[in-house]
Amino acid sequence: MSADSLIGGNLLSIEDLSADGLAEVLEVAESFVEVNGRSVKKIPVLKGRVIASLFFEESTRTRLSFETAAKRLSADVLSLAVASSSVKKGESLKDTIETIEALGIDAVVLRHRSSGAAHQVSRWVKEAKVINAGDGTHEHPSQALIDLFTVRRAVAERRGVDSRGSGLALLAGARVLIIGDIVHSRVARSEMLAYAKAGAQVRVIGPGTLVPGNVEIYGAERAENLDVELAEADVVSLLRMQEERGSGRFVPSLHEFSTLYGIDERRARLIRDDAVITHPGPMVRGVEVSSLVADDPRMVVREQVTNGVPIRMAILFLALSTRGEMVNV
Ligand code: CP
Repeated sequence: MSADSLIGGNLLSIEDLSADGLAEVLEVAESFVEVNGRSVKKIPVLKGRVIASLFFEESTRTRLSFETAAKRLSADVLSLAVASSSVKKGESLKDTIETIEALGIDAVVLRHRSSGAAHQVSRWVKEAKVINAGDGTHEHPSQALIDLFTVRRAVAERRGVDSRGSGLALLAGARVLIIGDIVHSRVARSEMLAYAKAGAQVRVIGPGTLVPGNVEIYGAERAENLDVELAEADVVSLLRMQEERGSGRFVPSLHEFSTLYGIDERRARLIRDDAVITHPGPMVRGVEVSSLVADDPRMVVREQVTNGVPIRMAILFLALSTRGEMVNV
């Protein structure tokens, strides 16, 4: 495995991937889009492999799309229902992971409320690959890959060109504006790293208490004037307030946050017609986005969900491949 490619490795952070490694995931995902369009959406490339799906925190999109992706690659899926597992009897994460690995697994897809959980699990497993499906406020790398893939396809469609084989060219130089609760958002951290690695100009804006002072280390800059930034952006990335992580304590009220940073109809009119608006979901209509804007044609939230399956197929396929096998893709 080379240090910058996902082939044969873990996906713990976007920092694990070089720009070429990032483009490789997008290109492999393009080939899986075709598989997802077939009447029989299944190929045998991971037949006989076993993937454990361990979600210690709530999820709709990530869990369903990773499990769908694994099944479409013909892998067997072990899905731990944490609420009815021995975790509830006090079993530690380490013992749970060692128990599951003893069953004979090839990969673990892990979501956990603790930042760093996926890195820790990668040190405990002997052979299994570890895929971070969101760890606390740290990172959500597969979501950022979905977002780049979705934006690349949307830009290609607007320009009437083919996204396949375009590498990162359609993202390079794009002005990306990420709005809202940056401090608590693992999606924001992975997006900043990924868009910056793709050559985009990344700016973040939100309440002073919800924007970290060190966004430069992720390749981003702080912005101050939302209306000006909206008019200039090629990509507008909306984020949910992370109430389960205490975001509400960092603003006087959700109403004030919504008034100052929510995308309502007036602000949506400032956004260019050819811009792309993303949201990782779940959206909270009436807080970070008005209900009308949530259904705006520039909003690609549904495409992001659809693209979750080919991107996660690509992640699982690459992580469980070797260079030799890649020749046969
Ligand atoms: N975007 C995202 O991670 O959604 P879920 O929490 O539903 O998986």
